[in-house]
Order: sequence, then structure tokens, then C-alpha cells
Amino acid sequence: AFNLRNRNFLKELDFTPAEWRFLLQLSADLKRAKYARTETKHLVGKNIALIFEKTSTRTRCAFEVAAYDQGAGVTYLDPSGSQIGHKESMKDTARVLGRMYDGIEYRGSKQEYVETLGEFAGVPVWNGLTDEWHPTQMLADHLTMTEHTDKPLSQIAYAYLGDARNNVGNSLLISGALAGMDVRMVAPRSLQNSEEIVAEARRIAESTGARITVTDDVAEGVKGADFLYTDVWVSMGEPKEVWDERIALLKDYQVNAAAMAATGNPATKFMHCLPAFHDRNTKVGEDIFTATGMEALEVTDEVFESEASIVFDQAENRMHTIKAVMVATLGD
Ligand code: CP
Ligand code: NVA
Repeated sequence: AFNLRNRNFLKELDFTPAEWRFLLQLSADLKRAKYARTETKHLVGKNIALIFEKTSTRTRCAFEVAAYDQGAGVTYLDPSGSQIGHKESMKDTARVLGRMYDGIEYRGSKQEYVETLGEFAGVPVWNGLTDEWHPTQMLADHLTMTEHTDKPLSQIAYAYLGDARNNVGNSLLISGALAGMDVRMVAPRSLQNSEEIVAEARRIAESTGARITVTDDVAEGVKGADFLYTDVWVSMGEPKEVWDERIALLKDYQVNAAAMAATGNPATKFMHCLPAFHDRNTKVGEDIFTATGMEALEVTDEVFESEASIVFDQAENRMHTIKAVMVATLGD
């Protein structure tokens, strides 16, 4: 078996394909056990710090529920509730929290911050999203994909349409390479993954058998795909001012009924890490729709609310997969 005890979970690149599969299997096992009410607690007596320098619904709640299910206690540090970064360095924060906690989750901007935390805390550190990577999201997405097809991961094709340079875009490319999947990154040139990350994905693909496509052509990219995936066009931490430019670049990459039909695969499912701008039912959504005059942004409400949409299965699976990460790295 695999021993991930005391390991950090900072980015997909730190894991071998076999370790990744092990975490997915453990996630499925823990999910089954919870539904069967046979879950065993592996984190009794442990204390976990949850540091959020950016806001969250899913990630925070997933860590909290997973910790409680497994018998651990948590402390939530909100974006304004700590000294981190303003008054105390990440290196010092790591050495303080490492003396009190058995594991630390961190969500923030630079990947460098979570890497520093991981280097100096002396306890497992888990990346709950940075500007560069969103690895816990990927475990949830791969688990969700396997639940919605009869195919093994290595036969699944997915296309990501949108800002491929963001955290989710980078993580979808690398995690798909790791899992040996057929990965299509579909975006205009200026929003495609960096050359370094594409090269990394191709290097991994040589040993895993993954097929990597990077294209600005929607028809080519989505052909035959089992899943179409998108994310917000402007991410947390980016200025409002980039909306106009992003819309100009991405309006043809919207996931709408035409994009779903263009796969030619009637079984294609729709995925989104959430939160999504698919309607005006939030203050921010209302402001953006009004300011931009757009009818729909990254996904139409029609597709989001359709039978093909599996976004809430993804959301639930954040909890089961984050639980697996904590159990594997910190469990008895
Ligand atoms: N998908 C995701 O990470 O959601 P939150 O920002 O709500 O945690
Ligand atoms: N790319 C998005 C993902 C949110 C889960 C962001 O960083 O805001």
C-alpha cells in the first residue's frame, strides 16, 4: 500500500500517478463508509488550522465537515483574522502553528506562501487554492468523473473552456496528465497555460499515456469529450477592470447548448468548480451582468441547470476527497 503520512498536499506535481490513484480510491472508500454509517475515525485528538486569505464556501466547509467526521477539531482563520503576511512572516507563522496544530490548510494568493508554510510547519500542509494550483478540487473532479461514466480515468476525455492560466486551468492540465486522461485545454492563445506547464504535462504524459491537446479551436477541442468544464473568467484577487478584456477574449468559449452539442457525444456532462456566474441571483453577479451587458458569462443558465450538469456532485465530493487527503497524511 501507499504511505503518505506526514506528506504535504501542495500541488499535483508532487505526486506519482499511483499515489494519485490511491487518494482517489481512499476517497471512494470513505464516501461509501459514510453513506453506510460505517466510517472509522482516524483523526481523533488532532487539531487542524484552516487559514483562508481568500473567501470560500466549499473548501472551508469540506475541511470542517471532514475533520468533524474523522474526530478532529478545527480553527478557522478568516482573511482578516490573523497576523499572517501583514505583521508576521509565513515562515514564523508556520513555526508557531506547527507547535499547536497537527495539520494546516492554507488558501491564499502565491503558491510560494503555501510552499513556505509546508517547509517550516513540521506538520502536513494542504493547499486549499492558490493563484497557481487547486489540487483538492482535482481529486473531487476525478472522483466525480469516474462516478458519471463506466470508463476508467485513462479512457475519459475532458475539455476545459475558459481562462486556462488560472489555478483550475493549470490543475486540470497537470492532474489529467497524471491520471493518463485525454485532456483538452481550449482557450485563446493569450489565456492558454504557460509553455512551462504544458511542457510539464507532456513530460508526465509520456509515462502515463495521457493525450494533451492545447487549442484555440472550440470544435476541435470538444469533439467526443465526456465532460466540458469551465470556471469563472475572472478569478479571486484579479481586479474588476479585467472583465471587459476577458469577455472579449472568452465570449466564444462559453459553455452553452451549442458547445455541448458540438461534442457529438449525447452523454457529455457539464462541470464547474463553482462558484459560477450563470444567472443574476447574487449581488456580484447582478453587478457584472449589468456592467458588461452580457446575457451569460462562462456558462448559460440553461446548461448549468440541465440534466447534464454534475456541479453539485463535484461540490459534495470536495468533502470526501479532502477527508482522504487528511486521513492519508495525518491519520493513525
Ligand atoms: N470550488 C471551490 O474551491 O469553492 P470555494 O471557493 O467556495 O471553496
Ligand atoms: N479560479 C477561481 C476558482 C474558485 C474556486 C478563483 O480562483 O477564483
